[in-house]
Amino acid sequence: MSQTITISVAALAGANAPLTIIYAAENEAPAGAGAALWARTGLDWAQAAAMASFTGKQGQALDVLGADGRLLVLGRGKAETALPRNGWTDRGGSLLVKIAATRAADVAVVVDESGADAAAIAELAAGLRLRHYKFDKYKSARAEDGPADLRIALHVADPAAAEKAIADRAATVEGTLLARDLISEPANVLGPEEFAARAAELAEFGVEVEILEPEAMAELGMNSLLCVAQGSDRPARLVVMQWRGGKADSQPVAFVGKGVVFDTGGISIKPAASMEDMKGDMGGAAAVTGLMLALARRKAPVNAVGVIGLVENMPSSKATRPGDIVKAMSGTTIEVINTDAEGRLVLADALWYTQDRFKPAFMINLATLTGAIIVALGHEHAGLFSNNDELASRLLGAGLAVNEKLWRMPLTPAYDKIIESKFADIRNSAGRPAGSILAAQFLQRFVNDVPWAHLDIAGTGFGAGNSEINASWAPGFGVALLDRLVRDHYED
Ligand code: BES
Ligand code: MN
Ligand code: ZN
Repeated sequence: MSQTITISVAALAGANAPLTIIYAAENEAPAGAGAALWARTGLDWAQAAAMASFTGKQGQALDVLGADGRLLVLGRGKAETALPRNGWTDRGGSLLVKIAATRAADVAVVVDESGADAAAIAELAAGLRLRHYKFDKYKSARAEDGPADLRIALHVADPAAAEKAIADRAATVEGTLLARDLISEPANVLGPEEFAARAAELAEFGVEVEILEPEAMAELGMNSLLCVAQGSDRPARLVVMQWRGGKADSQPVAFVGKGVVFDTGGISIKPAASMEDMKGDMGGAAAVTGLMLALARRKAPVNAVGVIGLVENMPSSKATRPGDIVKAMSGTTIEVINTDAEGRLVLADALWYTQDRFKPAFMINLATLTGAIIVALGHEHAGLFSNNDELASRLLGAGLAVNEKLWRMPLTPAYDKIIESKFADIRNSAGRPAGSILAAQFLQRFVNDVPWAHLDIAGTGFGAGNSEINASWAPGFGVALLDRLVRDHYED
């Protein structure tokens, strides 16, 4: 079982716990409330700092064990450097690491420097929780995992304001953590139906959830999506989530996710190496679900729609073959050249359905779509493709603000020509060059004239390595990004 973490806020005066943490700036003694706590140690600051080679640089720590508890002084770098918002999130992450190393159960942290306003403290709290997260539900408990419950009190100048900001930011954290949970869950546990059931739980927070079964999808003509699912014994689901927090007449914003619960490649089967990672091929759908939870939990004043296409891509005697031709809901016919290029087949119908039914202000899809985006951008940036410059630039800005970075890639008619098929309107695969762009051009055939962006998160959705705010396989990429986009530009 995982350790629980509880974060509370308290007044500056009276910080006192078995472990108390204060900050000191570079080449400066602890100031403010920290100065008083240091004074209780009875030690000379300059002497202690020199003995511990503590200069106040970020990452440094000075530990003092006294009769009335343990005082840990952390370096926060140059006093005059104002941290950007996501710098506070990162600081929360590194703070969690310091706290975990002490194995303390009750911790008081003094945060009273100038710049530590309510928004900054909310980021600090978010960083603590994001870094604390582990997907360890399938591991037996071990004694070295630390205390069962970790309680952290943040001592701040304005506890009431901090409490409000923390609660608001916590909604987005919950969304990110839900996405991480869904992505890490193995495919034997999380099939299309189980994923849909998890999405249905959002009803508790006021999200309207509809689940379409294969019969209803067939009725709508979603043969492109359904042809991916047909090799699996586990039937497809299309989940529609609606959060109506905005004005009754305001146009919704829409998010669409690729939800391939496992991608074997189908008949065009993948090699064995790292195939286990393909349990994360529903990372786009997980981000959309996490985002809907975030919007609902913070009661965002926006009308938002989340649509996720849930399928399992398996080889079998019922599976789609290379060369098969299907007619998508839009009427476009598709020659399936490679059954491993399945994500675009799922999204084709999910995108068309979303714009057709909701006439959204914009549509953003997220998908672990191509290995080629990892070749192009590695794990640092997700690929951004868009038919709309304003939407693209807003997304780029939101990515920088929350440190979920995007890099814009091209879409042009010259690439579009390459996906023409010998036998149908288009084909789903056309060789290795420009693999991510061709996938995006394919999706663009199904967005009509709606402002649209496609985020290829194959490199950022899982396995991207640890960061200050993530120590698990799946960072939950996309939730904070899209929550930021909505907050900054689309709330009523
Ligand atoms: N789910 C994969 C893409 C992927 C690869 C995601 C690695 C995360 C990590 C996708 O369905 C796929 O198989 N794409 C093929 C497309 C090709 C057959 C045109 C690819 O990238 O090789
Ligand atoms: Mn595939
Ligand atoms: Zn896939």
